Amino acid sequence: MVPPIAAPSAPGTLRESGATSTADGSPSFKDPVKDTILTPRFYTTDFDAMAAMDLRPNEVELEAICEEFRKDYNRHHFVRNEEFVGAADKLDPDTRKVFVEFLEQSCTSEFSGFLLYKELSRRIKTKNPLLAECFAHMARDEARHAGFLNKSMGDFGLQLDLGFLTANKAYTFFQPKFIFYATYLSEKIGYWRYIAIYRHLQQHPESKIFPIFNFFENWCQDENRHGDFFDALMKAQPSTVRGFQARLWCRFFLLAVFATMYVRDVARKEFYEALGLDAREYDKLVIAKTNETSARVFPVVLNVEHPKFYTRLERIVTNNNALNAADQSSSIQVIKAIRKLPFWLGNGLEMAKLFLMAPIRSENFQPAVR
Ligand SMILES: [Fe+2]
Ligand SMILES: [Fe+2]
Repeated sequence: MVPPIAAPSAPGTLRESGATSTADGSPSFKDPVKDTILTPRFYTTDFDAMAAMDLRPNEVELEAICEEFRKDYNRHHFVRNEEFVGAADKLDPDTRKVFVEFLEQSCTSEFSGFLLYKELSRRIKTKNPLLAECFAHMARDEARHAGFLNKSMGDFGLQLDLGFLTANKAYTFFQPKFIFYATYLSEKIGYWRYIAIYRHLQQHPESKIFPIFNFFENWCQDENRHGDFFDALMKAQPSTVRGFQARLWCRFFLLAVFATMYVRDVARKEFYEALGLDAREYDKLVIAKTNETSARVFPVVLNVEHPKFYTRLERIVTNNNALNAADQSSSIQVIKAIRKLPFWLGNGLEMAKLFLMAPIRSENFQPAVR
């Protein structure tokens, strides 16, 4: 999985298949979910810098992680069974809509991870073979995850056109250390998101709206291992997690990832309701757990227990609703922009206040783990 921090870029394309094709038999196209600041982003980086990375400070741990990847524990896990037959037809239209959006966003995130890891493994293969091998194993896992999600979309007569997506998505350039922060958080948050849903559905099997959730337990272990790899990689490059600048950047990435997820999930709370979950409570749990995990490698983490933390995130949620309303309010761009301006400024202010909240030094947060 790759980060939910996102920028506007070309939308993904959903190709309808099967019964919904046009009269001449050619596939028709459904309107894709609109790309916004909250949709998954595609990344590229400085491949030469990655290739030149000295792993010696933590080579033993990285080699051990690579050995785990080689075992390929989930080689036989992602096999569809008879439970999928007819499962899509059981969803009511509203649930179907939010569930398909969930599948599309998840598939795009997984596929974004695949593209980045695959390209990294290819570009550094000769100069940094251990790193290249780790990325190749992770690309294998993400391709499996994306493919599995895409097959579920096929149950709804839809396919994400991954070739189109590869060619048409805008790629965001990040320096390697920013790739580490963003992908580390994305993998760990992915782990907590999947395991939280899995555990909830174990307690409430009546809310399991689709058999794909049965696969989340082993699936999230892939994400956990990917996160551990980035943890080890940052420890091999200690400057990424030491010093004043690193503390600022870690705060920034934690906040960007948490805020984006919270705003996005509250906006699609109907999906969580369909699973019998409250989007806010679910996100608070995932944020608390990811923050706690991050203290193992980041020098600081956020004070998410501070009473103002969620008050400020809620203001951003409210501003975003107002921004959406302003978007619908006129067909004239200038008028829209004028109506939106106060809410954009409001969001900037809230994010600045959140960023300036005193963080917690990781050694104070989880002394036992460190
Ligand atoms: Fe994944
Ligand atoms: Fe992953």
